[in-house]
Amino acid sequence: MSFPALATAGPARVVVLISGSGSNLLALLEAARSEGSPLEIVAVVADRDCSGLQHALDYGVPTHVINFADFASRDAWDASLLTCITAAEPDLIVCAGFMRVIGPELPELYRGAIINTHPALLPAFPGAHGARDALTHGVKVSGVTVHVVDAGLDTGPILAQAAVPVLRDDTPDTLQERIKGVERELLVNTVAAVAVHGYSLEGRVAHLNLPTA
Ligand code: GRF
Repeated sequence: MSFPALATAGPARVVVLISGSGSNLLALLEAARSEGSPLEIVAVVADRDCSGLQHALDYGVPTHVINFADFASRDAWDASLLTCITAAEPDLIVCAGFMRVIGPELPELYRGAIINTHPALLPAFPGAHGARDALTHGVKVSGVTVHVVDAGLDTGPILAQAAVPVLRDDTPDTLQERIKGVERELLVNTVAAVAVHGYSLEGRVAHLNLPTA
């Protein structure tokens, strides 16, 4: 089975979801601006006011804050997020430091077309504190995982991973920053590869459909 089936002939329309400083978003915006890029960032959506939104404004990309705290229920927030995202008519949705689990409707509707980046080598250390948990566990190598979003928490098929050594004096912050240095390039390259070539799924095993030399 191959994913995703892009509806458009031009660049893939990408909605990026963020919660924080948006360094991964910035990398995507920069890549999308380059000549002949297969990506067009059509909207940035945050679950809170966050500094990363400024990057979207700098690049003239529409922003939306679907502030979780403003909603009476999770379902109401999920419904509003869904409405906002579908209005942008995305081909791909990228969770780039989006610190909220999305409800089941989005992965259902955009099956195989939602991509997340996670600061650990999944399936180790899922959840909100990948760098801290790797450090606490004492692993000597951690890294970053770019994966397809399914209904679980950081459980979807893995598209790409890169390793980052854990150093003796690391704190959660220093490890997180070193991971982010690798993460940006891996995320941009993987999202672009999915947009151009798609990927195949055998069971839960994903393979990017990269051209053979
Ligand atoms: C990234 O490391 C992401 O994997 C994690 O949070 C960080 C977000 O960084 N979930 P930024 O907002 O892209 O700078």
